[in-house]
Amino acid sequence: MEMQSLKQRRFEARTAIVTGAARGIGRGIAQRLAEEGCRIACWDNDVSSLESGDGSFAALVQDVDLADARAVEAAFAATLESFGHVDIVVNNAGINGPVVPIEDYPVDAWNRVLAVDLNSVFHTCRLAVPHMRARGAGRIVNVASIVGKEGHPNICAYSAAKAGVIGLTKSIARELAGTGVTVNGIAPAITETDLFREMTEEHIEASKARIPMGRFLTVPEIAAMVAWIASDECSFTTGFTFDLSGGRATY
Ligand SMILES: NC(=O)c1ccc[n+]([C@@H]2O[C@H](COP(=O)([O-])OP(=O)(O)OC[C@H]3O[C@@H](n4cnc5c(N)ncnc54)[C@H](O)[C@@H]3O)[C@@H](O)[C@H]2O)c1
Repeated sequence: MEMQSLKQRRFEARTAIVTGAARGIGRGIAQRLAEEGCRIACWDNDVSSLESGDGSFAALVQDVDLADARAVEAAFAATLESFGHVDIVVNNAGINGPVVPIEDYPVDAWNRVLAVDLNSVFHTCRLAVPHMRARGAGRIVNVASIVGKEGHPNICAYSAAKAGVIGLTKSIARELAGTGVTVNGIAPAITETDLFREMTEEHIEASKARIPMGRFLTVPEIAAMVAWIASDECSFTTGFTFDLSGGRATY
């Protein structure tokens, strides 16, 4: 079935913050929401592609380091000033960090991965939650990873941060149950992005072999799931992290 034909206009008059929207998965999510009528604030610490390339889907571009709580406060204030309100927050920005055994893992790298992948979600949620609660509506979608559920060797900080995102999602969801605000996550498996250019053919084939569907996840598939979770249609699920694993996660 052609995915294009399933697109709707679910986000007319809605606004969303998408973090890490300058490229990759975040860009795909931002474009999908915009195609369905949403006004998008793209938050990223490398906004050059949005300003120079095709950033037409971005109603607002914020150059912000999400690891910096004060910078996030300033970006949230600027977004509110521009949009008036925020309906949706997609916490997508993330970094991988080094690929080394734990005994070789640099402390600075550990702190940076936790700051960008986990603390950033706290920084945005602590601002978005009171705003959404007061409005009696809102959708928060946190991008975790299948690695946060299963663990993965040699990327201990990334695995821990993504497991932390899943726990944070559950906790905030419980705080907000019954308010009209839902908080959910997604746990994608390895996805066909620019990341592949950095990988060896062996690594790509080994990764594919672990996916029962025998192919990789694509950015439009992630964007479609996020759009549904962020829509009014996803109304009775909160605190859950949805897998996108091609049949790998069956627990
Ligand atoms: N690509 C995959 O296979 C995969 C699988 C599972 C989960 N994920 C998760 O999906 C999310 C997006 O991944 P991607 O593959 O699109 O990555 P990417 O590197 O292509 O894009 C990440 C974006 O986040 C931005 N960013 C990084 N650090 C930032 C910071 N401190 N402040 C603001 N912006 C920052 C980058 O500039 C970039 O635009 C990440 O959280 C990643 O962990 C990716």
